[in-house]
Amino acid sequence: MTAEQINKLLKTHKTPLYVFDLNELRSRVNYIRQNLPERVKLCYAVKANTFISKEMGKIAPWLELCSPGEYRICKKLGIPTSKFVISGVNKSEKITQEMIENVEDMGCYTAESVNQFHILYEGAKKADRKIPVLLRLTSGNQFGLDESDLENIIAEYKDSDYVDICGIQFFSGTQKTSLKKLQREISYVDSFITGLKDKYSFNTQKLEFGGGFPVSYFEGESFDEEEYLKAFSEMLKNMNYQGEIVLELGRSIAASCGTYLTRVVDIKQNHSENYAIVDGGMHQIVYFGQFMAMKHPKIQLFPEREDNDAQEWNICGSLCTVNDILVKRLPLSNLQIGDVLVFEKTGAYCAIEGISLFLTRELPEVVLLGTDGKFTSVRNPVETELFNTPNNI
Ligand SMILES: Cc1ncc(COP(=O)(O)O)c(C=O)c1O
Repeated sequence: MTAEQINKLLKTHKTPLYVFDLNELRSRVNYIRQNLPERVKLCYAVKANTFISKEMGKIAPWLELCSPGEYRICKKLGIPTSKFVISGVNKSEKITQEMIENVEDMGCYTAESVNQFHILYEGAKKADRKIPVLLRLTSGNQFGLDESDLENIIAEYKDSDYVDICGIQFFSGTQKTSLKKLQREISYVDSFITGLKDKYSFNTQKLEFGGGFPVSYFEGESFDEEEYLKAFSEMLKNMNYQGEIVLELGRSIAASCGTYLTRVVDIKQNHSENYAIVDGGMHQIVYFGQFMAMKHPKIQLFPEREDNDAQEWNICGSLCTVNDILVKRLPLSNLQIGDVLVFEKTGAYCAIEGISLFLTRELPEVVLLGTDGKFTSVRNPVETELFNTPNNI
């Protein structure tokens, strides 16, 4: 953001504050699109930032929703359900049934386990409806189905009246810069798809694919995105599978549109180290790959100052924990109480990943066990949608 924009913003808004720039968001999406083959369609992973999901609903063909909370938010925002990919572990029977019965044109559902597949199948059968399903292939962790389980489902249900198994979902993690690894994963999925054709005459119509693309957050990092996208496009071109590819991306779409502003509320020197306390904190800002606050993300000081007499500052948040350090030894000139630190590339996960709010899952009930041996509920389970839903403007 420009100094003029920051100035204007701070006249009418309190810190700490997130700003998400929808122009930047659109140009990011255009940039990614222009650098990928035509057959690749984007799927925005809403978990990265629910506040831009309405805009993404206008510009992306698909949105990946990983929890009932994300689903309800996107429905409330009026995004067409035909764009929804209902994904994620822990899809209960109740919510699955509700979705199947109430939504005729759901984009698709993913099955993360044999149990989930059966919940989907039974739900569709009960509603007497055929639903589109992607089977998630595991990349060797708690997500997705083992190869043999996935194959068994295909063998048994590929001609089912209730599920249209339209393809495979494969997501292997985030921020992976190694092209070699990427190639290995693409080759693996490609030959798995070929195997499905050979063994079961199963035609994969759609491959929903990730790792999320890398984002450079820190000073001194050099990631050549153009080269990366070029190499990735080449890998896709060389695949045996030439059907539709849906790319699940959150971070690399959303990161650059976000700015987080936090104000310095106190400064001091302890044991010869400079400390600045800000009104935000580690619960509001997360940079993937940040380790013990050692790396320096891109930060502007507002108001701007000459760079010539910079001192090193430890920037600490307002939480009562020694871990609440945002950046260690950040060079800043003539830092003063009331100054604002403007953190860039905070559009993905920062506003959402305060861990209790991540994925808009429910906060748990709290129960006291009294001295009389009785349980007393002192907080009911709390839906967190309220915190992650933008005002519907
Ligand atoms: C299944 C799935 N799809 C997409 C994403 C988005 O990844 P990223 O934000 O790194 O692009 C994630 C991230 O956790 C994920 O688990």
